[in-house]
Amino acid sequence: MKTFNLTEEQKEFFFQEIKKIIYTPNFIILKQFRHHGSISTYTHAIKVAYFSYRFSIQHKIKVNKRELIKAALLHDLYFYDWHDKDNGVHLHGLFHPKKAVKNAIHLYNITKREQRHMAHHMFPLTLIPPTTKEGWIICICDKLSAISDYKGIRLAKKYKKRKK
Ligand SMILES: [Fe+2]
Ligand SMILES: [Fe+2]
Repeated sequence: MKTFNLTEEQKEFFFQEIKKIIYTPNFIILKQFRHHGSISTYTHAIKVAYFSYRFSIQHKIKVNKRELIKAALLHDLYFYDWHDKDNGVHLHGLFHPKKAVKNAIHLYNITKREQRHMAHHMFPLTLIPPTTKEGWIICICDKLSAISDYKGIRLAKKYKKRKK
């Protein structure tokens, strides 16, 4: 399948937007937490932001690109390893979007609209669907990015086995 490529100008816009957040200490912490396999929450969040931005351009969906990138970057802003069942994190899948929104309000001063973009990204696990176009894009690209993470991990394992 042919990948859709961004222009240099579009890539530059993306970088200018993510750099407002990805070098801040509260975001760098996400490097410590495992998200899918060996992929950290930090890498996952940047991937979802990139996929979401590219998706909106590829499908010519009119959205607020700045809000889309910011909300996608912050959609999993919680500070624990969700695999760690001993640290008191129960029903992570259901409750982490609310935690991420709360953290993003506190640490990144996000707007009401940005909160709505993030709040329902776990649909259909959580019953309420996204209420904005940006929210739908993040919800879809979060799943696409998880599939791509697991595919990458499977390929890496297969390759490692073959090398032996
Ligand atoms: Fe999430
Ligand atoms: Fe996610």
